[in-house]
Parts: sequence; structure tokens; C-alpha cells
Amino acid sequence: MCGIVAYIGKREAYPILIKGLKRLEYRGYDSAGVALLNGGLNIFKTKGKVSDLEALTEGKHLTSNLGMGHTRWATHGEPNNVNSHPHVSQNGNLAIIHNGIIENYATIKEELINRGHHFESETDTEVLIHLIEEIQKASNKELDEAVRIALHEVVGAYAIVIISKNDPEKLIGARKGSPMVVGIGEEGEYFIASDASPIIEYTKDVTYLKDSEIAYINKGKLTVKTIDNIEMTPEIQKLEMNLEAIEKGGYEHFMLKEIFEQPKSIGDSLRGRFDPVTGILAMRSLKEYEHKIKNLKRIIIVGCGTSWHAGLVGEYLFEDIARIPVEVEYASEFRYRNPIINEDDLVIAISQSGETADTLAAIELAKEKGATIFGLCNVVGSSIPRSSHAGAYTHAGPEIGVASTKAFTAQVSVLVLWALGFADIRGRLSKSELSKIMAELESIPAKVEKTLACESLTKELAKQFYQSRNFLYLGRGYGFPVALEGALKLKEISYIHAEGYPAAEMKHGPIALIDEEMPVVVIATKSANYEKVMSNIQEVKARKGKVIAIVTEGDTKVSAMADHVIEIPETSDYLEPLVATIPLQLLSYYIALERGCNVDQPRNLAKSVTVE
Ligand code: G6P
Repeated sequence: MCGIVAYIGKREAYPILIKGLKRLEYRGYDSAGVALLNGGLNIFKTKGKVSDLEALTEGKHLTSNLGMGHTRWATHGEPNNVNSHPHVSQNGNLAIIHNGIIENYATIKEELINRGHHFESETDTEVLIHLIEEIQKASNKELDEAVRIALHEVVGAYAIVIISKNDPEKLIGARKGSPMVVGIGEEGEYFIASDASPIIEYTKDVTYLKDSEIAYINKGKLTVKTIDNIEMTPEIQKLEMNLEAIEKGGYEHFMLKEIFEQPKSIGDSLRGRFDPVTGILAMRSLKEYEHKIKNLKRIIIVGCGTSWHAGLVGEYLFEDIARIPVEVEYASEFRYRNPIINEDDLVIAISQSGETADTLAAIELAKEKGATIFGLCNVVGSSIPRSSHAGAYTHAGPEIGVASTKAFTAQVSVLVLWALGFADIRGRLSKSELSKIMAELESIPAKVEKTLACESLTKELAKQFYQSRNFLYLGRGYGFPVALEGALKLKEISYIHAEGYPAAEMKHGPIALIDEEMPVVVIATKSANYEKVMSNIQEVKARKGKVIAIVTEGDTKVSAMADHVIEIPETSDYLEPLVATIPLQLLSYYIALERGCNVDQPRNLAKSVTVE
């Protein structure tokens, strides 16, 4: 949800901002803009992508050591030039970029209009910078203080950066509910960004601002204060991310790179977490919360999008292996439906970004009601791990393609570990059973590698089916969340309508849609539901649907019925989602390519949804 980057120091700001915006473009790409301080306040902004901004600035005077840039995912106001950030105050002295939503902007706007303010855009952001100007004017306050007072008046979420024409050595950043990291470079230079990707090649020293904190960078010095004016000591951390991880490395798209990274990312998520000699799962969450896990009555899993699908796999795993009742909830529903939660509950919040607004709010609600929270996130240092009591990282590395791929398989991998660990603690699993499943889990990276060889087949299938208007994805048991995830991937990047369904539920509706035009992707591996799924395939075939089946290597029965088959290596039911998802990711990728879609930046979507 919007990417922000800012620089102050001795280098040229513009190239740092443009490069940074390109790295942040996964967060939104409706419009882009920069503000540079060079004598005056120079603002360039346009509807479209960062490349459109570059075209706009060609040949312009861009020399400056202080500036900020923004890439937008529109919330208030359609994506057009005027609504693009940065926005300026009425007197033109102050400029702001913003990620988030100011919920009470309409009331503030009305008051400001009564005081003579005129607004150019429809955005909530412009209201905030006018408010700061008004506070400065009305009470003769310094900018630092005016920002602080203004932030007390706003309701909502924000990560903002402000620069002032009259303060060429000042950069102010603040956050509440939206992420913000400050990079500390050489000789008094500083960077501010939504995540570390724009900063990584200049410095490894960063500090993550906490909610309701303001970073004042003035004359080469950083001061962090709360919005209640209490000075904080910034915690400086070393970035572990490397540059290679956030570049395409020869692949045409990040999504393809990330699909192909899965043998490694799954391996990385498992590494060091199991000792085959002692049969012990070495995870801090298991050790520190052993007593809690032993006694808990229920697990509630919350997440959004693909993370919610991983949560569904989690439900099957925890119930199957550890025999603990599980509920899986969309975080956005959970937070508003007055759920019954108590101290014996464990809430597992799953999120790639660790910043999804609804998931964060669900955590806060569950915490208030006394539940224990485990976070399962990919982005180290993000908000969800910090709001959770304990948890685990997925170690999948940065995921930049908007459609989530390697984060999903990494999440499922850690959920398997937790399900095994919980079962172990609760005496539901013998050491030998645990070791057997772990051995199988450790063979998954190699099986995923093997599955990736279906790439050329998915390319051919894409050529055949890319013009279909609808797709149906069917699965049973562990194949059901896989079907949901396959359908979501197709929708997200190719804009083809697709539905994931439990194979047997098809009879209660979707079957009416099946005709010779309808491709039906069926997860038909040799699982506990194999025979049942075969009956469902027959039902599709009887209505002339085109079946693309994901089958276990060497399968002959399904192959005899289906129009096309993609083989995957055999694995246990528990681990099937880790392998069966791979061909579906590739299929959606190649269908989207055939349709000429922008795979890494699908329309209307954003990687990190920091608004509710
Ligand atoms: C967005 C992304 C999805 C992601 C979902 C949840 O919709 O486009 O890929 O699954 O948010 O994000 P999270 O970071 O919480 O996993």
C-alpha cells in the first residue's frame, strides 16, 4: 500500500529515490512522484508507473541532496496526476508523502476550508499537510512541534515523510500502523523508506520506527521521539538482506524467480529447526510456550489472501497430526464480528509482509481478550512479529512479485513443523512417527525441484487455455486449499475468473457452469481421497468439461480420464500442498504471460495491504 523513500545527505537524492521507488513499486503502482529541495521545492508527479515519472523528469533540473519519492496505491481519490503524491501545503512551503489512511480527514478538511484553505486533490494526505501548516501558522510553532500536534489530531494509519522549503537540512518521518525504516549512512546521511530494499546498497545500519514515533533528522543528527514528545533511543539493527535477493537474477519476472526459488526457500524455512539425532524440534516458540501448548483448547488461525490459504492447510495439519480443534478466519471478518476468544486459545497470525492491517487488528483484538499470539511472517522486524508473543519467521527471503508463491510454501512448511511440535508436546505422536514425517518433509525441496520440470508443459497448456473466460479448481482434503490457491493465483495475475471449490461441493452449484468451454483443474493425487476425486472427474467429463489433472507420478487411472495431466512426485497427504501448488503457480504465470498481463504488478492489487 504505497511505497515511500526519502534521502538527506551528500549524495544526489534523485537517483536514490528513483531506484528506491522501483524496488517499492510492488507496494502500489497507480502513480509516482518525487519532491526535491534545490533552492525551491520542486515536485514532479504523474499517474502511472515509476518509468512514467522518469520520462516526465527527463532533462529537468534534478540536482538535490534532499528529496523524497512515492509510489501510490490509490485509496482516497482516483489515480490521476493531481491525486499523486507528494502533496503541498497551501503556502507551498511544506511537502508530504503518505502511506495509509487518515480516517477523519473529512472533518479536518471541513474545518480547514472554513479557515480559508483550498484543496487541489481528493486525498486525505493533502489535508494532513494543510493541517500542519495551519498549526504552524495559528500557534507560531516550529515545524517539528506542528507535526507532532497534527499527528495527535488524526485518526488512522500513516507512514509520512515531510520536507520544508525553509529547512534544507531537515527530514521528518513518522509512523502509526504503516511500516517505516530509517537507514543511517555515512557522514550524517539518512534514508527513510517503507522497507529496507531502497536502502540496502547504501547502508546496513537501520532502525525500525515503532508506532506513534517520529524521526527528526536535522543537520545530520537523528532524534526519535514519541508523539507525546518523549525522546527514545533508536535501536540500531544490521540488515541481513542482500542486494541479490531483491533483484531478478536473470528471470523475466520476480514471480518466476520466486517460483523457482522454492526448493531453497522451503529448505531455508526448515533449516536448523529439527535435530534428527535427538528427534527434537528446535523452535523457541515450542520451548517457551510448551506449557501453554500442552493445555490449549483451541487454535484460531487468522490471515488474508494466500496467507489465509496457508492457514487452511494449517487447520488440516493441526487437527490431523496434533488433534487440536482449529478455526481459520479471514482477519477482516474476525476483527469485526465479536468473536469468542479466551485465555486458553492460541491465535496464529499468518502474514508474508507482517504488515497487513486487518491481521494486525485481529491480533490486537485477540490480545485484549487474553489469547496467546504466534506470528508466522516472512518480513523480519515487521509489525506482526513485534505485536505477537512468540512465533517463527518463514525465511523465504524477500518476495517481490505481488502474487505470493514462495511465501505460501514456506508458511506451510513452518505450519507442518508446528503441528509436529504441538503433537509431540501433547503426546500425540511417537518419536519414530515424528522422525518419519520430518524425513519426508526434508525431501520436499528435492521434490519441488523435480516438479519445476513441468514448466514446459504448463507453457503449452497456457497456450491452449489462455483465452478461457472461466476456470474451476477442485480438490479434496489437503487438495482443497491448493485448489483455492491455484484459483487465486490465476485471478490475481491473468484476470480470468476462477473459483476454487471442494471437489464434492461442485455438485451444489458450479457444476451448472461446466460445458466444453470450461477448463477444470483437479488435484487428483494419490491421497486418501483419490477414488472420490476420480468420481468428481467423471462428473466433469460427463458434462464435457476439460480436465487438467495434477496427478502422482506414474498414475494411469486419472490419466485415462483427464484431458491433460501434470505429474508430481509422490508425498504424504500432509505435505501434498507443498508440491501440488507448484504447477498451479506456473500455469497461472504462463497464462498471464500469454494474455500480455503485467505479472509482477497486476492491476488494482498491492503486495502489502496496510489499509483495512
Ligand atoms: C495482498 C497480497 C497477497 C497476500 C495478501 C495477504 O492481497 O497481494 O499476495 O496474500 O495481501 O498479505 P500478507 O502479507 O498478510 O500475507
